[in-house]
Amino acid sequence: MRVPARQECLRMLEAVAMPLHIQNHSRMVCRVALFLCDGLAGSGVSVNRDLVRAAALLHDITKPRSFETGENHARTGGEYLTRLGFPEVGEIVRQHVILDRYFAGRLPSEAELVNYSDKRVLHDSIVSLNTRMDYIVKRYATTASLQRRARQVWRDSLALEKRIFSYLPIEPEQLAENLAAGD
Ligand SMILES: [Fe+2]
Repeated sequence: MRVPARQECLRMLEAVAMPLHIQNHSRMVCRVALFLCDGLAGSGVSVNRDLVRAAALLHDITKPRSFETGENHARTGGEYLTRLGFPEVGEIVRQHVILDRYFAGRLPSEAELVNYSDKRVLHDSIVSLNTRMDYIVKRYATTASLQRRARQVWRDSLALEKRIFSYLPIEPEQLAENLAAGD
């Protein structure tokens, strides 16, 4: 498996002229995801930390151009990274908005951690899952069918949150303070 290291990910963001605010968002998603990785590791659940880091940093790689093209940035981001030779990273990026399956395996996966972390970061701040999902519903769910879909993702994400935090010594609402304490 080829996974770009942190510096290479940052260069890739530069190469697509990623706007600073999305870079900052992606860095914060990465911090959250790695914090969760380490918490899980403390409970004996090992996930591929390098894979999580790369996918978190690169999850919105095609988002800037999607504003012009209207493309599905999760799908095209996955394709973009696969074409560059990082299919495993691409697979996680492809699922960062909606997972193919929730609770696909017995233990939380890299894809679940990146998907969930993106749902705790609004712009570059940590917010509750409900705040973030409320924002997503209001901003993106412009039709009745998108509304239904977003509400299903909201429910699935709350279940995912329960699952991830069942392995951690903190509650979801203590995420921000614990992340800051690690600085
Ligand atoms: Fe995204």
